[in-house]
Amino acid sequence: MTAPDLPAELKAALDARLQGLSRNDAAERAALISQTYRDGGGSSAIRTAADALAYALARMPATYAAVTASLNALREIIPDFAPKNLLDIGAGPGTATWAAAEAFSSLQRFTLVDANSALRALALDLLGGSLRLRDMTYQRGEARAALADAEAAELVVASYMIGEINDAEQSALTELMWAKTRDTLLIVEPGTPAGYGRIIALREQLIASGAHVAAPCPHDGRCPLTTPDWCHFAQRLPRSRAHKQLKSAELPYEDEKFSYVALTRAPVAQHPARVLAQPVVTKVEVTAKLCTPDGLVIAKVPRRARVDYARARRWRWGDAVMGEANSTAGRAGERRDP
Ligand SMILES: C[S@@+](CC[C@H](N)C(=O)[O-])C[C@H]1O[C@@H](n2cnc3c(N)ncnc32)[C@H](O)[C@@H]1O
Repeated sequence: MTAPDLPAELKAALDARLQGLSRNDAAERAALISQTYRDGGGSSAIRTAADALAYALARMPATYAAVTASLNALREIIPDFAPKNLLDIGAGPGTATWAAAEAFSSLQRFTLVDANSALRALALDLLGGSLRLRDMTYQRGEARAALADAEAAELVVASYMIGEINDAEQSALTELMWAKTRDTLLIVEPGTPAGYGRIIALREQLIASGAHVAAPCPHDGRCPLTTPDWCHFAQRLPRSRAHKQLKSAELPYEDEKFSYVALTRAPVAQHPARVLAQPVVTKVEVTAKLCTPDGLVIAKVPRRARVDYARARRWRWGDAVMGEANSTAGRAGERRDP
C-alpha cells in the first residue's frame, strides 16, 4: 500500500518553490483561500502563481493523503486492477495524478482537466520535473466542455472537486464522468456531511446506471447510515515545518477527514465489511461499527473468542475486514438492511 506522505520528488519540487517565499504572505493567502472555501466560494480565490503555491503548500499534503487512502482501499478490493490511463478531473495542482502514479505503476498516460489557470501552471511546473509524469496532457477548461472531447480512461478521478459544481450541474457531470470511465471512477470529497451527501447522490445515480461499488461500501444497496450520522474516514499525515508555519499549527501531524466512493463497471468479487469508526478496545471486548453486505452491525468481539479478539484489536477505522465480520463471534446490536 502507498504511504500517505507526498512522494519525495513532489516534496522536493514544492520545497524548492518555498525558497525566497515569504511564509507570512503564503500563510495569509492560504488563510484567505480556506475562508473562501468555507464560505462556499470554491477555488475562485486562487488567481495568481503565489495563490496557487500557497494552496498547494497548505492543502496538497492532505488531499494527496485522502486520495492515497482511497486508492489503497480500492487496490485492496481489486488487487489485480492495473489501469494504463488516468483522467484527473478538477486536477488543480495535480494531486490525484501524483497519488495515482504512486499507487499504479501500470499507468502510462495521464490526462488532467481544470478551469483554473494558476493551478494548472503550477501543476505543469511540478509535473515537468518528473520523468514519468512530464508527458501528461493538461487541458484547461470547464470540466463538462473539456470532458466532451476527452478520451475515456480506465481510471477516472475527481478529488475535492464536485463540491465546486452547483447542484444542478453535478448530475450532468456525474453522467459525463461515468461515460468517460472504462473501468473505475473514484470520487473523493471532504469528510463533512455535505461531502458525504454529494458522494451518496452520485453513488445512487451511477448504481441506477449499472455501476457497482468497490469501496468503501460492501454492497450496492442503500447506505444504512441515517442523519446525523455520515460515512467518512480519517487519514493521518505528517506536517513538515513549512506546512506547520503556513497553517500556524503546533502538532507535527494532521488528520484529514474525507468521504469517497470507487465505482466499477464490473461487479467486484469480494465484499468485506468496512470499519466505520475507530473501534473501542477494552479488556472485555472489542466493539466495532461495521458496514456489512447485510447492513449496519455493531460487532462485539469478546476476549474469550481469543483469535477473533486478537484480530479485532488490530481493526482500524476505514479497514476492510474480511470474513471476521461475518463470523458470529459476539455479534450484537443494531442491524438494518441496506
Ligand atoms: C479544491 S481543488 C482540488 C484540486 C485537486 N483535485 C486536489 O485534490 O488537490 C478543486 C479544483 O476543481 C477545479 N474545478 C472546479 N470546478 C470546475 C469546473 N467546472 N471545471 C473544471 N475544473 C473545475 C478547480 O479549479 C480546482 O482546481
